[in-house]
Amino acid sequence: MASSIPGPTPRFIIGNLLDVQDEVPIRALERLVDIYGPIYKLVLKGDDSIFVGGFDLFDELCDETRFFKIPPRVLTEDRPEGARGLFIANSEKDEDWAQAHRILMPAFGPMAIAGMFDEMHDIATQMVMKWARLGPNNKILVTDDFTRLTLDTIALCAMDYRFNSFYSEKLDPYVVAMNHTLAARSQRGQVGGMIKSLLPSYQKQLQRDNDYMKSVADQLVKYRRDNPTEKKDLLNAMIHGTDPKTGKSMRDDLIGVNMQTFLVAGHETTSGLLSFAFMNMLMNPETYFAAQQEVDRVVGKEKILPKHLNELKYINAVLRETLRLTPTAPAFARGIRPENKEERVLLGGKYEIPRDTGVLCLIGKIQRDPKVYGEDADGFKPERMLDENFEKLPKNAWKPFGTGLRACIGRAFAWQEALLVTALLLQNFDMSLDDPNYTMHIQQSLTIKPKDCYVRAKLRPGIS
Ligand code: HEM
Repeated sequence: MASSIPGPTPRFIIGNLLDVQDEVPIRALERLVDIYGPIYKLVLKGDDSIFVGGFDLFDELCDETRFFKIPPRVLTEDRPEGARGLFIANSEKDEDWAQAHRILMPAFGPMAIAGMFDEMHDIATQMVMKWARLGPNNKILVTDDFTRLTLDTIALCAMDYRFNSFYSEKLDPYVVAMNHTLAARSQRGQVGGMIKSLLPSYQKQLQRDNDYMKSVADQLVKYRRDNPTEKKDLLNAMIHGTDPKTGKSMRDDLIGVNMQTFLVAGHETTSGLLSFAFMNMLMNPETYFAAQQEVDRVVGKEKILPKHLNELKYINAVLRETLRLTPTAPAFARGIRPENKEERVLLGGKYEIPRDTGVLCLIGKIQRDPKVYGEDADGFKPERMLDENFEKLPKNAWKPFGTGLRACIGRAFAWQEALLVTALLLQNFDMSLDDPNYTMHIQQSLTIKPKDCYVRAKLRPGIS
């Protein structure tokens, strides 16, 4: 017997709109798990939406033979026809996705990522120099500097472009346009965002921003075609790579949209990870000292090299634990695979999922399920993520990078960058919270990051 999926009663016309209003929309969705349990239903914009916030049901949704990725509606609903980047492709059967995936997988593989180490180090050093020069009394808004860092890093490694964010006060126009469009998309489900979206001037501005971002990407592709280099970056992998299955190369419009995808998908997620990691460590100083001691033991005062990163087991665990508590891409959607021939698709043996309805997985809630992580699931405890413990976790208990074929292609890139930056900062600075009583608040655009987190950074003795 199927059970009905619980949820708040929808209101006339507006459905459950009022139930999801919050400065941090993901928190409103997570709160509903506490009220209705690990699965609930809402009516939003006239459609049924299902949400899952518990491990057991999520575990089932990870079964790739029954379910597959549904791209986020906020990123797809107003897209014109035409090339789609990897992130928002409708399915693995989409030829553009399959071709880009096959060509790009090696470019994101371990050897290729190790080859990007020096460029990552170059940008990270710019940030270290800035903090050192500004001195120990300077209040640093870490989220802003980590965003400068991750954006400059992905642009340099992917397409040999320097935003030089650490050398100018003003943001690059590309970044301004990108921030506008991301903020607009993330506000789509909120009443304020809906009202704004009705204003013609607002729509025009968004269109201008989108056109500008597209033209920058197209120009970069054209420039590289006209001025070839030997550099092993993602742009060259796309321009010169051929699909091992079909022998074909990628079209320029597909290269352009994927470059935009990397700039967007590849910076705020990693920047948020770094911000949360440092705030977690500074709010739990014993973990900061443990991580710093590890850097001193493994690297000392030498230059950090790729070989050191594998040995930073504790920092690895800090990053894993951070993404468990606050996955910076806090939700993703799964739907029933068209090939799934089950007559009625039941989750947990009793909740029927309609074929045309996506299920949004609330990863931050799923990764705090006490059934998997115990009664202290809400606490920051890097030890539980050390390799020997991590390997004993159930297969789908830690999924901040998504799941299956459509899982994050940039995971190794993000991991190398986050390990390197964390180690470099710990090696050079004793950091402290500007407000010792800081409590973690979250801000959300499409991704999440901590709010108002100011720190101070003092060069360590013997570092000049
Ligand atoms: C996909 C998270 C860094 C590029 C995803 C997905 C998640 C995710 C959850 C799956 C989304 C879904 O199922 O709808 C993260 C996190 C990161 C990170 C937490 C950092 C901490 C990066 C970086 C890049 C990147 C650095 C690029 C350089 C992509 C792309 C996809 C993706 C292209 C789509 C893959 C496909 O569908 O084939 N990421 N990501 N990500 N990510 Fe990441």
